[in-house]
Amino acid sequence: MLKVNNIDVYYGAIHAIKDVSLEVPDGEIVTLIGSNGAGKSTTLHTISGLIKPKNGSIIFEDKDISGMPAHKIVGMGLCQVPEGRHVFANMTVMENLELGAYLRSDKAGIEEDMKKIFDKFPRLLERKNQISGTLSGGEQQMLAMGRALMSRPRLLLLDEPSMGLAPLLVKEIFNIIKEINESGTTVLLVEQNANMALSIADKAYVLETGRIALAGTAQELASSEAVRKAYLGG
Ligand SMILES: Nc1ncnc2c1ncn2[C@@H]1O[C@H](COP(=O)(O)OP(=O)(O)O)[C@@H](O)[C@H]1O
Ligand SMILES: [Mg+2]
Repeated sequence: MLKVNNIDVYYGAIHAIKDVSLEVPDGEIVTLIGSNGAGKSTTLHTISGLIKPKNGSIIFEDKDISGMPAHKIVGMGLCQVPEGRHVFANMTVMENLELGAYLRSDKAGIEEDMKKIFDKFPRLLERKNQISGTLSGGEQQMLAMGRALMSRPRLLLLDEPSMGLAPLLVKEIFNIIKEINESGTTVLLVEQNANMALSIADKAYVLETGRIALAGTAQELASSEAVRKAYLGG
């Protein structure tokens, strides 16, 4: 579904992403793990069109999307949930979800998807008229995911969904990611929580200072000595 081929990304003179290639097959959960500053967010921003790569190509469903404007890419079915959620704090839960569908005009479909999202996230239904800035971190993560789902993505990019959440909520969020995937959405998941990410992913890549250091099935990486030492606490 997605093929990233040999991309390089610079911030001025900083070479943040070095010759990165990765693949996300249709229907799978692929995770990109790595320490703080490794280049995970930069990789996602480049895929979703917020940053342009200096070279290389990004192929989404057989179309080259490198250099395309971000809103066009969302319209094609690729949506990112940013690190730190970024919900519209002064708007209600419903308003945030409605904004997720801003590129769509199929009213009946939008209503149907809103219902599905409330089924998946009952906490959002309970709080549908609440101002989003007053939600807890976990609820804001759910809202950011729900808002992305309102664009009916075929591929969902998630940037550190577990960041700052209590362990119980982390479990809940990861269960929901699995459910989203099981209902047909392909997922590229960026995480520092390598343990959890590897437990739900099919394939995994390890990013180290802008380069892909390791790649394999999630099982292979979870049992690799190097990964266990560096990312899984031994
Ligand atoms: N806007 C920016 N300007 C300059 N350097 C940046 C910018 N954003 C990120 N970087 C640098 O690029 C590298 C990768 O950052 P990032 O992609 O945010 O890593 P991660 O998401 O894995 O923590 C880091 O060295 C970071 O300091
Ligand atoms: Mg990041």
